[in-house]
Amino acid sequence: MPSEIAIGIHDLSIASTQYMLTHATLAAQNGANLGKYERGIGQRSMSMPALDEDIVTMAAAAAAPILQRHSADRIRTVVFATESAVDQAKAAGIHVHSLLGLPSATRVVELKQACYGGTAGLQFAVSLVHRDPAEQVLVIASDLSKYDLGSPGEATQGAAAVAMLVSAAPALVRVDEPSGLFTADVMDFWRPNYRTTALVDGRESISAYLQAVEGTWKDYTERGGRSLGEFSAFCYHQPFTKMAHKAHVHLLNYCGREVDTGAVDRAVGPTTAYNAVIGNSYTASMYLGLAALLDNADDLSNRTIGFLSYGSGAVAEFFAGTVTPGYRAHLRSAAHRAVISRRQEIDYARYRAIHEHAFPVDGGNYPVPRETTGPFRLAGLSGHKRIYELTSNPHLEA
Ligand code: CAA
Repeated sequence: MPSEIAIGIHDLSIASTQYMLTHATLAAQNGANLGKYERGIGQRSMSMPALDEDIVTMAAAAAAPILQRHSADRIRTVVFATESAVDQAKAAGIHVHSLLGLPSATRVVELKQACYGGTAGLQFAVSLVHRDPAEQVLVIASDLSKYDLGSPGEATQGAAAVAMLVSAAPALVRVDEPSGLFTADVMDFWRPNYRTTALVDGRESISAYLQAVEGTWKDYTERGGRSLGEFSAFCYHQPFTKMAHKAHVHLLNYCGREVDTGAVDRAVGPTTAYNAVIGNSYTASMYLGLAALLDNADDLSNRTIGFLSYGSGAVAEFFAGTVTPGYRAHLRSAAHRAVISRRQEIDYARYRAIHEHAFPVDGGNYPVPRETTGPFRLAGLSGHKRIYELTSNPHLEA
């Protein structure tokens, strides 16, 4: 159901990290059956940051190609969604604003509600553009997911950023009304301020997610949303790719539909290609699913996609998007595949060193050795401040 003005995702670009660890390497180390990772949770590898990469460098790398293709003149708001923030006060988006040379007449804000934050950013952006259709909003979702070594969550780590330019007359996907909303106070996954790794009750988190699927769909249909048969594909939040399959089976059961495994695979399978090798990127995860779908599926012009965004704690939203005819001319499929293929595989020892690394917290001067071949890097820490720099790098593509 379109609003009067078509508003949605005009451009979309992804970024990830320098390194990746395969689940074969993890399984060889911890004795797990590789089938549990590759078929049970649907993950083959996970992105790992170099020491000079973080949510800011990934975010800037994702957003830079958007600013190379479009002028920044109409961008007056940058929304940065993350649950792996680098500061408790300053919005990480201000570092990105600076690295990308955005105009000073911009509002920049950081949003948090676990993995749901990117969708909050997208919906807020749609509202801002509705108020003034001449404006565009840069929405960035960027996260590093980190669990304790040896914990069940370890195999679901990952890292990525997705940048989206939200505007009127979007070239890719129109965001439709209504939305189905759901909030419940559950402690399924959380990270107290004093911890660098997340805490999770794995089974509780899956069941909380499935409750949210029901809750959002109920609200969506009560508010006059589309019927199940009108959707060509479903993008679910993917903490691990099998979760998208579980969620869709649950939705079909809830709607009293027969569950045909082939149909479930067709509805969600094309959305899992990037997440299966990148891992959980929290706020970015569902939009990586959208990128994979648009990049790899047959022509989806005028087709409707269902989006189910879930953030532990828990907040969820179901909404529909309609794909713009001619969208394929605006995709960045080759660049997205390069984001994945350029990562260097690391061995278990290197992974462990990255996992255990912590910067000193005494406020001294600590240059960070150059590791990333990406376009932006964390150059060092000084006086409790993070210092970022642009590298001269060929991976910056329009
Ligand atoms: N071959 C094929 N499949 C196998 C297998 C084998 N050899 N061995 C096991 N499996 C299957 C199991 O049957 C199971 O499948 P089902 O769930 O369909 O039954 C699957 O592999 C996983 O096995 P386990 O349940 O035994 O795995 P586990 O106890 O190690 O934990 C997990 C799995 C709970 C997802 C854990 O990885 C975890 O805690 N992850 C982090 C939390 C998470 O991602 N929660 C998801 C919802 S919360 C959310 O979405 C927000 C967010 O981003 C965190």
